[in-house]
This record gives sequence, C-alpha cells and structure tokens, in this order.
Amino acid sequence: MQTFKIAVLISGRGSNLQALIDACKSPDFPAKISVVVSNKPEAAGLGRAVEAGIPAMIVDSAFFKGNKAGFEASLIQTLEQFEVDLICLAGFMRILSPEFLSHFQDRVINIHPSLLPEFKGLDTHARALEAGARKHGCSVHVVTPGMDEGEIILQKSLKILPNDTPDSLAERVLELEHEAYVQAIRAIALKHVTIQNSCVIRSKTHNAFITKLTRQPKNNREMRMPNTQEHSHSQPVTYPASAEAVQESQEMWNWFTRLATYAAIATTAVLVFIAFIIT
Ligand code: GRF
Repeated sequence: MQTFKIAVLISGRGSNLQALIDACKSPDFPAKISVVVSNKPEAAGLGRAVEAGIPAMIVDSAFFKGNKAGFEASLIQTLEQFEVDLICLAGFMRILSPEFLSHFQDRVINIHPSLLPEFKGLDTHARALEAGARKHGCSVHVVTPGMDEGEIILQKSLKILPNDTPDSLAERVLELEHEAYVQAIRAIALKHVTIQNSCVIRSKTHNAFITKLTRQPKNNREMRMPNTQEHSHSQPVTYPASAEAVQESQEMWNWFTRLATYAAIATTAVLVFIAFIIT
C-alpha cells in the first residue's frame, strides 16, 4: 500500500504538528508528513519539523503583503513539489482563497478549537465562557471558502468546569485537539472517511473503526524516526528552514519582542514623569 502523504501548514507553536509527528513514529500509522510549511519564519513549529527530519519550508506571507495571489501561487508551487494527498492546517493563520482551495479540491482540512458551528473565528475559549456554554471542544473540518464553515469530520468535547478560565479551557481543549487530529487523519488515510465535493462521506466500517480507536490506550506509540529528505530551493521567499536558520530567526524574534517591551516600558515611564512634572 502506498503511504498517504500529508503536508502540515503552520504559523506558530506547532503543538498539533508535534502530535502528528509523534503519531507518525508508530509503524501502524497510515500516513507520513512529507512537508511542513510555515508562512512565518519565526514559527516555533518549524524547529519541531527540523528536529524530526521533516522538510520544513517557509513561504513568508510578510513578503507578499497585499499580494495574496502571489503568496498562494508560491504556496501551491511549494506544496506541489511534495505531491501530498492531504493538506492539514494546524494553527495556520491565513484565510485561503476559493482558487487555492479548488486547486486542492477536497484535500484541505483544519482543526478548530470549538464545537463548530459554535464559535467560529478567534478567542473561542473566552467566548464559550462568556456565552455560558456547558460544553466545549474541538472540530476537525473540511476547509471551504467560508471561514470555519466546512463539514465536520470529527469532534471531541468536554464539560466546562465552574472554575474554568480561558487558559485552563484552552489547555484541556488542546489535549483533545491532539487526539482528534491524529484520529481524523488516520480515518481519512484508511478511507474510512472520504471528502467528495466538500462533503464528508463515512464508510460502513467507520463507526466500528472510531469505537476501536477510542478504546486504544493513549500512549502505545512505538518510536521510529522519519526519513530525512533533502530539498533545495532557490527562491528568496520560499525556502527550506535549516536548524540554524530556525534558531536564528526565533532568537531574532525574541530579541525584537524584548526590545519592544523595553521600549513600551520606557515610554510609559517618560510619560508618567512628564505628567508628574506638569501637575
Ligand atoms: C490550535 O488551537 C488550533 O485549533 C488553532 O490554532 C491552534 C494552533 O495551536 N487553529 P498549535 O500551533 O498546533 O499549538
């Protein structure tokens, strides 16, 4: 059987990516990550990919500011090199155009931190608490042009506790996300779930499959290192992230945020001082 190849698109921390990397270490996991693409050079998730020996590419969206078509053309070109079966968005903070999605028709999925259709968009945990929701969770869904609107592939939920804060809720939902994304991708790779014309079709064996999966102990994964592949790319805005480059850009980013914080503190101090002198 041919390995089911996925691309993971990120913009930041990459904890869902890490859950997928860990799942792929198990010899019985039916998919492999062929490439990780970030639109931000400073994304911490790039380091996770490099460490796992997975090709990590950067298509820098800041370079394409005001030129979404150019950004997506570069993203398409990058993804096509790896001939992936499925594109998994994992904290990828760009809205993809209908043109991009029709290029990869029925091959783009996303993980969202709410029980869709509730709480599309950002700040889902705070909004769930404000709304007095009793349950919250995460959804893996098909990506369509409407934000967080595609059909649901899999959801996992939890009960909101009386003393939950947005942070405590985020932490518990994130754990569910990691399980949900791995299960959804396994189901798609094994064809228990297929996506046709943006609709989710479940096979007759799907329910039995999900029941079996949820009974499995969580940490029975065997360790296997993924293959390391070399890819060269000469474009200035689309390039492989080396370990050094990732570290360098993350250090620069940390340095920049520290500088911005000091500048803000200094400005506040000066303003307070001026106010003190005036009054
Ligand atoms: C997750 O909560 C995911 O649902 C949302 O963005 C967050 C990404 O987290 N789309 P991480 O980068 O995978 O840690």
